[in-house]
Amino acid sequence: MKKSPTPLVMGIDNIRDARDHLEKRDLGEAARLIEAALERLAGIDEAVSSNTSPASDHLAAIEKRTMELDWPRLYREGKTERELEAGMLLENPGVQLLKMIIGMAGYKKVLEIGSFTGYATLGMAEALPGDGEIVSCEIEPYAADMARSFFRHTPHDKKITIRAGSALESMKALSDEGRRFELIFIDANKLEYRDYLNAILDFSLLFPQGCIVVDNTLYRGEIYLPPEKRSVLGEAVEQFNRMVADHPGLTHVMLPLRDGMTLIRLR
Ligand SMILES: C[S@@+](CC[C@H](N)C(=O)[O-])C[C@H]1O[C@@H](n2cnc3c(N)ncnc32)[C@H](O)[C@@H]1O
Repeated sequence: MKKSPTPLVMGIDNIRDARDHLEKRDLGEAARLIEAALERLAGIDEAVSSNTSPASDHLAAIEKRTMELDWPRLYREGKTERELEAGMLLENPGVQLLKMIIGMAGYKKVLEIGSFTGYATLGMAEALPGDGEIVSCEIEPYAADMARSFFRHTPHDKKITIRAGSALESMKALSDEGRRFELIFIDANKLEYRDYLNAILDFSLLFPQGCIVVDNTLYRGEIYLPPEKRSVLGEAVEQFNRMVADHPGLTHVMLPLRDGMTLIRLR
């Protein structure tokens, strides 16, 4: 069955045709087709961004400060315990999707696994009502402190608690405290994605009407490469994806937003 012409399908068709022309040494036509593919594929992320509600001024300030910092230097100077990078920031369309889910479902209790500098944390807090609450787990003290210092200058500070330390330990502690959440956003260590899901299910951290959102589930396109071409992280994310797909108690959908976002609910 012929696939309907999406930007990806059309760009890929152009590249396949370019390959055929290269084999026939028709370099001019091959170059024209590659240019056509580039034009079509290179515009997707920008088009998604510019057709999505913009970030608030507070979010824009977090993004700006996070991008300005010299993260490799902070690590070299021992200010961060692990190597972080500005590219870890969730992009605005992902934040707007989380805000949309919170607003539509009327969620009030959110758990985030992996705060970094608090970009998605604050975005989700913006969507919560005044009596809403978000707990965000972050292992890196420098990032946790930075996020807290941003929140202090916003009207949403009182909705947010950053839990410093290992997410898995925090999840266990939250369960011991009898806490449950309506939205859980997983965005920390890819090697632990399956552990986070197991913890959510074993500790009953999700309300039955709740939703789990997981970032980077396409993992740079590695999840659909043959296993020998995957990195350790790509393999871990693919194993997480298999775990979700094979779980009889879960229903899920993957959105090709940026590096892939999967929405999961209990059946
Ligand atoms: C991709 S970033 C999170 C981005 C963030 N959600 C945002 O909106 O910009 C991943 C974060 O998870 C943190 N992290 C990694 N392993 C962790 C763990 N085991 N427990 C808690 N946080 C962890 C990292 O320090 C990093 O700040």
